Amino acid sequence: MKLSECNIGFAITGSFCTFDKIKSQIKILKDEGADITPIFSFNTYNMDTRFTKAKDFTDEIKAITGKEGMSTIQQAETVGPNKLFDVLVIAPCTGNTAAKLANGITDTPVLMAAKAHLRNNLPLVISISTNDALGINLQNIGKLMVIKNIFFVPFGQDDYIKKPNSMIADVSRIGETIEAALENKQLQPVVVA
Ligand SMILES: Cc1cc2nc3c(=O)[nH]c(=O)nc-3n(C[C@H](O)[C@H](O)[C@H](O)COP(=O)(O)O)c2cc1C
Repeated sequence: MKLSECNIGFAITGSFCTFDKIKSQIKILKDEGADITPIFSFNTYNMDTRFTKAKDFTDEIKAITGKEGMSTIQQAETVGPNKLFDVLVIAPCTGNTAAKLANGITDTPVLMAAKAHLRNNLPLVISISTNDALGINLQNIGKLMVIKNIFFVPFGQDDYIKKPNSMIADVSRIGETIEAALENKQLQPVVVA
């Protein structure tokens, strides 16, 4: 399936420093012709941070995608029964969301959408962005990597001197990872320098 024919659920969690880079990638996917529905975690939707005001960011994403998107668990629940997406992307995916997903917790719109989408045997793409990827969250990333239908955007250590446990995905490869995932393949190499 080409990106231009693709219905993408694009779920955004609270790695606020990654938001600018993610915005650019959503624009690229949109320009390719993909239909994109944003899904916001509660924290993305509500938290003002030193990086951005929540409303400014969510308004920009709504403008780029042309959709209000989903910001409640009730909205996200409809992803399953209505088979809304060909692929669901979580980008950026925080350590918090990765940990919950790996352990079957479903208490945000993003986690609800992921659970609902996976039940339909459809691909879920994760773009990790967390300071504890090689710390307490390593076990959760490992758990997710071996689950059927879960694929990772290639990721690597972003600053091994100052933040030795931190890993971040190469967000410029989200499109390629989606295309591979739609063919049931993991883009390689998945761990990059
Ligand atoms: C300014 C700021 C930046 C953050 N950056 C990250 C990050 O890059 N990666 C991460 O895993 N958590 C980060 N966090 C912590 C998450 O926002 C926090 O764990 C939150 O509960 C995530 O919720 P969510 O996964 O439902 O969006 C950051 C928090 C703040 C306030």
